[in-house]
Amino acid sequence: MDNILVTGGAGFIGSHTVVELLNAGYGVVVIDNLVNSSMESLERVKKITGKSVKFYQADLLNMEALQNIFEEENISSVIHFAGLKAVGESCKIPLAYFNNNITGTINLLMAMEKYNVKSLVFSSSATVYGKPESVPISEDFPLSVSNPYGRTKLIIEDMLRDIYKADTSWNIALLRYFNPIGAHESGEIGENPNGIPNNLLPYVSKVAIGELEAVNVFGNDYDTPDGTGVRDYIHVVDLAEGHIKALEKLTSNPGLVTYNLGTGTGYSVLEIIHNFEKACGKKIPYKITERRPGDIDMCYANPEKAKKELGWEAKRDIDKMCEDAWRWQSKYPKGF
Ligand code: NAD
Ligand code: WQD
Repeated sequence: MDNILVTGGAGFIGSHTVVELLNAGYGVVVIDNLVNSSMESLERVKKITGKSVKFYQADLLNMEALQNIFEEENISSVIHFAGLKAVGESCKIPLAYFNNNITGTINLLMAMEKYNVKSLVFSSSATVYGKPESVPISEDFPLSVSNPYGRTKLIIEDMLRDIYKADTSWNIALLRYFNPIGAHESGEIGENPNGIPNNLLPYVSKVAIGELEAVNVFGNDYDTPDGTGVRDYIHVVDLAEGHIKALEKLTSNPGLVTYNLGTGTGYSVLEIIHNFEKACGKKIPYKITERRPGDIDMCYANPEKAKKELGWEAKRDIDKMCEDAWRWQSKYPKGF
């Protein structure tokens, strides 16, 4: 059987995508060095689906380990999630981010080329739009970045565009995610950040469970309806389903294609807090603090292209996102 190689498959979005791949009947091989995840997530994937994956605990920086996978497994396509993703950390240790994300991707691409596997789905990010001039954001908006993490995404996108230009036998889907949240509805897998979360939803969730005292709302003087930042939150299972659609698309030889994966609707920080309160049945204390450097006021997708060309759209609303995140948090308060 042909297998899909999933890099970073033990992580948050990766594990949810592996569930959808297995449910759709694909064979799955995962490579992950577990730097930001645990093997337990793949055990839970087995619990959910009744199916297992072939797992390699290895680093993308290890070329030999990578080649061994292509040698051993019959890989037809790659979904590439593996990378470091904390914006703040990337400003402190940019070189580690460049090495891990960019060199890791170059190794992967070299192995793919060597073994003639030229079908790739890449995890890009809405961060490549920088500070957009207007919302909603379409795929043809100008690209720019303001931090080393974002730069790794833009550089990898640029590399892939160059590679495709030079060799049009590649099929590549660049998927630009907006703000993935939520968890599998079984409550068995979900986001499991190390230490104090950087992102809003896991922070709110940890306040709800009593691990953190209050949410710091980073500024209420933005140019938005209630003054707090507006984002396009998308359920991680909708996102995972988008990957299956992208993979199917690649079989029709589309060349290099780029899609926003978002809902098209923006919610403010305060709206998120209130929705989460509804989901968990508790009051969530918060305080307004300074703006976080680098944050923008509004960011949400025009998701029409993915709808038209992939037949994909997000189906799960903000209530479902908060309910599922809470189910995971309350079922496993300490994570994996
Ligand atoms: P995650 O940290 O949960 O998953 C990434 C996985 O990659 C982890 O399991 C980690 O152990 C693994 N990994 C990292 N470096 C590796 C390496 N060198 N070799 C092997 N494995 C390695 O993050 P996630 O939220 O699931 O994100 C997945 C991808 O989506 C990332 O590329 C991220 O940049 C991108 N993305 C995430 C978001 C988000 O908000 N979560 C938004 C846009 C894009
Ligand atoms: C959301 C909103 C904050 C935390 C980041 C990356 C982006 C992408 C997704 C990977 C903003 C506010 C947050 C808190 C707050 N990742 N906030 N208090 O910044 O939109 O996007 O994750 O590609 O590249 O930049 O997400 O969840 O950090 O913030 O008030 O404790 O919540 O100001 O308005 P962001 P976020």
